Amino acid sequence: MPRVNRRDFIATTAAVGVVAAAARPFAASSGPEVLVQSSSRPVVISSDNGNRYKNGGTKTCVQTAFEQMTAGTDVLDALIAGVNIVELDPLDTSVGYGGLPNADGVVQLDACCMHGPKKKAGGVGAIEGVKTPSLVAKAVMEHTDNHLIAGKDATAFARNLGFEIFADLNTPASRKAWLAWKTETDPLHYIKDPVERAAAERAVIAKMVAAGFINENHVWGTINCNGVNAAGDVCGVTTTSGMAWKIPGRLGDSPILGAGLYVANDVGAAGSTGRGEANLFTLSSFLIVEEMRRGAHPKDAGMTALKRIQGNTVDQRLLNDRGLPNFNVNFYILNKKGDYAGVTLYSPGGRLTFAVCDQNGPRNEKLETLLEGNP
Ligand code: GLY
Repeated sequence: MPRVNRRDFIATTAAVGVVAAAARPFAASSGPEVLVQSSSRPVVISSDNGNRYKNGGTKTCVQTAFEQMTAGTDVLDALIAGVNIVELDPLDTSVGYGGLPNADGVVQLDACCMHGPKKKAGGVGAIEGVKTPSLVAKAVMEHTDNHLIAGKDATAFARNLGFEIFADLNTPASRKAWLAWKTETDPLHYIKDPVERAAAERAVIAKMVAAGFINENHVWGTINCNGVNAAGDVCGVTTTSGMAWKIPGRLGDSPILGAGLYVANDVGAAGSTGRGEANLFTLSSFLIVEEMRRGAHPKDAGMTALKRIQGNTVDQRLLNDRGLPNFNVNFYILNKKGDYAGVTLYSPGGRLTFAVCDQNGPRNEKLETLLEGNP
């Protein structure tokens, strides 16, 4: 039997206590509580929409995921049950059903998931007609030898597996917002000068935010949700309708392993929301996990990725009048021990938050910020 010194003994028994306390407040069934010796503090984190939408029920994403995870459900299954609530809620216009459509008015969704202990992953890109792309990403993980299926064939794949295919995932609100955008923008969407077009799109989006059509945080939308249980199993899932009014077929960072999400079971997990192109260029979620592998705290690992994004942003159309990125990117990060952080390029007024659920229940905490002011 390995020798245990006093410090390790105290740390281990403290963790057991935490696990027992964590299991109680959210226990869904009357089954026996299982005490697992571990140095991991169970926690689920997500973007802030993970502690806002309930799809007519009583619980948010992080609360549902934490409850299921601590009751013994597989961590990834618990996280996906959580994000399904947001995907199905028509009020979140950045994810799943009612997500803001592409430039042609079609809702195209991206998602991926990673299972730390099983070392498995799956993703779908630009899928249409399925309200819960996270479940299709899981099906890619479980039923294929591949990691990513995209476009019409992703929809066909889902149909073949028995997913219900809907003709249109727009809600009246997302359709109305799209019509407002369409009437404001150049119908020659594809051939306009890209610099002019980017500026025009930013101006239209700012106008639509001011008019209340879309939420300023939901232009790039998305939910990322990551969790670690008492046994140290780490999983994550990211799902999105992507950038509002995107060029049809555009894939963001969300379905791409290493960009929208990365999980290494021996280290931790990181996932993102915000401008996917910036993240695709740096594969930030992979970078963050590798920084943690080298010993960085989740917050410091996240800041390294944000600085890398800032350094890679040199195109004039992506810079504000201070020479800084004119967009936002956010990361939700946890390590195997249960330390966590949410980081962002900007949090104007310090008001941007992320969602957390642990033994103290669901709540929002402030995102740590790299840059002052507005994008
Ligand atoms: N981060 C979501 C997207 O850019 O599609």
